Amino acid sequence: MTAPPPTVVVDRREQAEAELAREIAALVRDRGRLVLGVATGDTPSGLYRELARMRREEGLDFGRVVAFGLDEYLGLAPDHPASFARQLRENVFEPLGIPESSRHVPGDAEGGDEYERRIRDAGGIDLQILGIGRNGHVAFNEPPTPRESRTREVRLHAWTREDAVPAFGSLAAVPERAVTMGIATILDARRIRVLAFGRRKSAIVARSLAGAIGPDVPATFLRDHPDLRVWLDRDAALELEPARRAGRS
Ligand code: PGA
Repeated sequence: MTAPPPTVVVDRREQAEAELAREIAALVRDRGRLVLGVATGDTPSGLYRELARMRREEGLDFGRVVAFGLDEYLGLAPDHPASFARQLRENVFEPLGIPESSRHVPGDAEGGDEYERRIRDAGGIDLQILGIGRNGHVAFNEPPTPRESRTREVRLHAWTREDAVPAFGSLAAVPERAVTMGIATILDARRIRVLAFGRRKSAIVARSLAGAIGPDVPATFLRDHPDLRVWLDRDAALELEPARRAGRS
């Protein structure tokens, strides 16, 4: 049986954001050049604010950081307010000062193979920042997704589209298709760092970290990774211990 991944439970999400920001800052300072995989959505927003604060107040220099976005809706103008390209530009690329030539988003690539090639040419992803969707997706790898999946076009799951309604104004306006890195692409990253906060993530956190590994909960595949760390706040961790105990009995 796979050992449970290192999981850190914090009282407030800001503690997780600060810890992960310190890890990233140390890598940026030590190595200069770092290839970062960057997630969008609410979950990593505080982490990006903390990294931007470190740049402003501590002079942390992201000038040699190369960034790869995880996923993107299909059929949106790149400047659409809900597009991940725009979210990344406004919340990550600009505030951190990542050079334009080092910014990569899947919507810009000529297909999945081209995006995979860009990641390889950059030397592979050193650290991948990830959230988990309520249905167990990571990036837009909706259930069921095989472990061998690579960057490709996908159809979005009903829950994913529902969760996106606030960003689009109505369900009808939420795109049906997207492009996403695959599970195998994500597992190639040297370090994987997952954040999950809030009561609405507690059931899927328990299934992802303590349930059977397989395509029906794509996040379970992360447990095969040799350098995975997961940060949860108390609400997101609520069902994890009971699930682990049940798994052992
Ligand atoms: P969220 O999404 O950060 O908006 O909760 C996480 C995800 O779907 O990966």
